[in-house]
Amino acid sequence: MNMIKFTIITLFQEALKPYLESSMMYKAAHKGLVEFDFVDLREFGLGPHKSVDDTPYGGGDGMLLRCEPVFNAIESVKKKNPKAKVILPTPVGDIWNQDMARKFANGNDSSCHYVILCPHYEGYDERILSIVDYKVSLGKYVLTGGELPALIIIDSVVRLIPGVLGGENSAAIESFSDGDNLEYPQYTKPYDFRGMTVPDVLLSGNHGEIAKWRKSHSGKAK
Ligand code: 6GU
Repeated sequence: MNMIKFTIITLFQEALKPYLESSMMYKAAHKGLVEFDFVDLREFGLGPHKSVDDTPYGGGDGMLLRCEPVFNAIESVKKKNPKAKVILPTPVGDIWNQDMARKFANGNDSSCHYVILCPHYEGYDERILSIVDYKVSLGKYVLTGGELPALIIIDSVVRLIPGVLGGENSAAIESFSDGDNLEYPQYTKPYDFRGMTVPDVLLSGNHGEIAKWRKSHSGKAK
């Protein structure tokens, strides 16, 4: 099985690292199931100030990520792996979903190396889209940059890599695999917590009835 690699091009590595170095992301990387790698966009900035943005032609507020630093950063990655696919988090992208996460976890388009370009500022020069393979949005609201979307994309892909989640291959994975059925309600000890008790069917030992109950209590993705 091929290892999945994420190269993250960002100005704010420090915003991403704590999450990727914790919990399941850390474990997955430690087991060699995934590799995270950072490219500092600032290193590709222009002039003495290593500038990566400029004002928009035609006027308007804010600064845009400019082409040269972005192209040079992406080309530096592609030089090492020409098959790497570029993901751009953007509010005007396709809305990310479980099917897309599964395709990426399975090695989309035969590439297991994804480059996530995190835009910042008010936007990016439209010509950047010419080197992007996937435009991804996390929903209908606007964030200040691509770092949080990058973490969400990575997390949703990494948990689907075989070996990342625990032994029983977690029902949580399966629960999304049939028509976007979400998880059924679950309970652990104690049986009675402040008067809230566990549905008795779950204590019945009747596996058929338990399966039926779980099926009828599964949520549907909106
Ligand atoms: Cl991917 N980027 C930004 N900046 N805002 C978003 C988003 C992405 N998805 C939802 N809002």
